[in-house]
Amino acid sequence: MKTILITGGLGFIGSNFADYLIEIKPDQNLLILDKKTYAADPKALDRWKGNTQVSFVKGDICDSTLLEKLFCENNIQGVIHFAAESHVDNSISGPQAFVETNIMGTFQLLEAARKSWLDDNQKVKPAFNSARFHHISTDEVYGALGPEGAFTEKTPYAPNSPYSASKAASDHLARSYFHTYGLPVVTTNCSNNFGPNQHHEKLIPTIIRKAIQEESIPIYGTGENIRDWLFVKDHCKAIQIVFERGVLGEVYAVGGDNEKTNLELCASVISILDKIEPRTNGESYYKLITHVTDRLGHDYRYAIDATKIKNDLKWTPQTPFEEGLKITVEHYLAKRK
Ligand SMILES: NC(=O)c1ccc[n+]([C@@H]2O[C@H](COP(=O)([O-])OP(=O)(O)OC[C@H]3O[C@@H](n4cnc5c(N)ncnc54)[C@H](O)[C@@H]3O)[C@@H](O)[C@H]2O)c1
Repeated sequence: MKTILITGGLGFIGSNFADYLIEIKPDQNLLILDKKTYAADPKALDRWKGNTQVSFVKGDICDSTLLEKLFCENNIQGVIHFAAESHVDNSISGPQAFVETNIMGTFQLLEAARKSWLDDNQKVKPAFNSARFHHISTDEVYGALGPEGAFTEKTPYAPNSPYSASKAASDHLARSYFHTYGLPVVTTNCSNNFGPNQHHEKLIPTIIRKAIQEESIPIYGTGENIRDWLFVKDHCKAIQIVFERGVLGEVYAVGGDNEKTNLELCASVISILDKIEPRTNGESYYKLITHVTDRLGHDYRYAIDATKIKNDLKWTPQTPFEEGLKITVEHYLAKRK
């Protein structure tokens, strides 16, 4: 059976992706490699307990010796690389971990795949003819938009935070390994995801947690920054399609066609909460919104034009925003109990 190495598989998107792969590919082994940083959700391992398809290794993608051993001991035919430091605010207060994991870690992983899959002449070994390295990235590498337009695969890079700069560097490394060595690489750059199992520091879990604890709901600045939101399962489906059918060396932008200001997003979460868990004082949770000092260098707007993946690979987002948000809110309410 072939093995797919999933880095960062205990994180938000990686764990949702592993769940999805288990659902649709019972004939594939998943080797989950995760450092178990503060952002990991160890409960994902409980869901996979007893499932012989899944094995887990606690380790760092910067550890070249470990990576070499994993490639040597397992028939790794695919890498889906989620592992990253992912929270912009943390990259502003402590950028070093972002440079180490997102840049050096990606480099070590590309090197391990290159050493395992390519021969001395940089030709793919016959045993790895269908091997693939899928690099997971973000729309934030393209910088900020004004009120009009959308990012495409051709948008020049202009990262504005240490997080997006480190992801941009990792994208360039992935690209260079395809062009220089012929490593079979595909890359996706996705917009903001939402859904179950996201770390509590991120915006939607924060809104829900603060609301039900009757605390102020912090919104940066005026709340007018715009993001394009995609339900995580739809992102997972896009990843699977690109991993299987994307053209090697190509980049695919993935988005939800679903732009919301932070304030609109917050209002949507609150209107669900008001219905399914009303406040005891009869007021809306909306009254708990508090505007706080804006994030340094806060990008105004991100939006994705996902025409390429829609036309070439026939992917479209399937989950209506309100439906995905209801699933998300219910998940965090249930988790609290
Ligand atoms: N969350 C989003 O909205 C979003 C959107 C677009 C792209 N992305 C990208 O998707 C990927 C996953 O994002 P996420 O939101 O699931 O992140 P996350 O922070 O929830 O999870 C990251 C996971 O990586 C692990 N990890 C961190 N450093 C590691 C290291 N050195 N070695 C091994 N494991 C390590 C953590 O323990 C954690 O389990 C990231 O590359 C991110 O840039 C995220």
